[in-house]
Amino acid sequence: KDYELILLAAGHGKRMGISGNKVLLPLLDEPLIVYPLRTFLKDNNCCHIIIVAKKDEIPLLKELAKKESVSTTIPFTFVEGGAERQDSVNYGLRKLENIKGFVMIHDGARPFVESHLIEGLNEVVHQTKAAILGVPVKDTIKKVENKLVVETIVRSALWQVQTPQAFSSQLILKAHKTARIENFLGTDDASLVERLGEKVVMVPSSYDNIKITTPEDLIVGEAILKHQQKSQKE
Ligand code: CTP
Ligand code: MG
Repeated sequence: KDYELILLAAGHGKRMGISGNKVLLPLLDEPLIVYPLRTFLKDNNCCHIIIVAKKDEIPLLKELAKKESVSTTIPFTFVEGGAERQDSVNYGLRKLENIKGFVMIHDGARPFVESHLIEGLNEVVHQTKAAILGVPVKDTIKKVENKLVVETIVRSALWQVQTPQAFSSQLILKAHKTARIENFLGTDDASLVERLGEKVVMVPSSYDNIKITTPEDLIVGEAILKHQQKSQKE
C-alpha cells in the first residue's frame, strides 16, 4: 500500500517570533524537521519523499535528509515552496511520481506523529480516497463577532484537525486545481476536497501530534518528545 509524501518546510514561522525557519529550531539538540522525517523513513509504505523548502535552505535540508536516510533507498525530491502553505503543497504535488497513486501531506512543524497513526491513516485512505487525522476538541468553542458571542457550537461535533492528511493523488490534484481556478485559499488540504463534495474520513489521532506554532509549543514539545523516547525504549 504505497504512498508518496509531501513534507512541508517552506514556512516563515512568523508566530514563533524568530527570524529563521522554525522547522530548523533545535528540539532536544536536533532540528525539528528531523523527527517527522525519521518517522516516515521508517514506514515501508512510503515510497517517495518530496520536501518543499525555501530555496536557500534546500542545501541544508538535502544534507539532513542524506544523513537520516543512509539505511534506506527511498528517493527524495526537493522543490521550492511558495508564499502560502497551499502554494507550497501545489509545487509539491507537481513532483508526484505516480498520479494514479496516493499521497500524504504533512507539516514539517509536526514532529510527534507516530508510525501507528500513519499506518492507520494509510489503511483508510486506500479504501476511501481522502482521510485525515484529528482529535475531539477539549474546550468549548464559541463564535465571536465584534467581541460579542454569537454562537456556542455543539462541542461533541467538533474535531481539531492535524496532518498527515492522505488522499488519492488524482483527487487532491483536482481539488487543488479547482481551488486555484476559483481563488479559494483553505487552511488545510482536506477543505479543498470537501468543496468538491467528496467524502473525507476522520481518523482518530493522538493529542501528542501538535504543531509547533508559538514559543510555548517548544516547551510542551520537549516534554512530548522525552515521553515518546522513553516509551520507545520500554
Ligand atoms: N509552510 C510551507 N510553505 C508556506 C507556509 C507554510 O511549506 N508558504 C509549512 C510550514 O513550514 C509548516 C506547515 O506548512 O511546516 C504548517 O504551517 P504553519 O504552522 O503556518 O508554519 P509557518 O507558516 O512557518 O508559521 P506562521 O504561520 O506562524 O508564519
Ligand atoms: Mg503559516
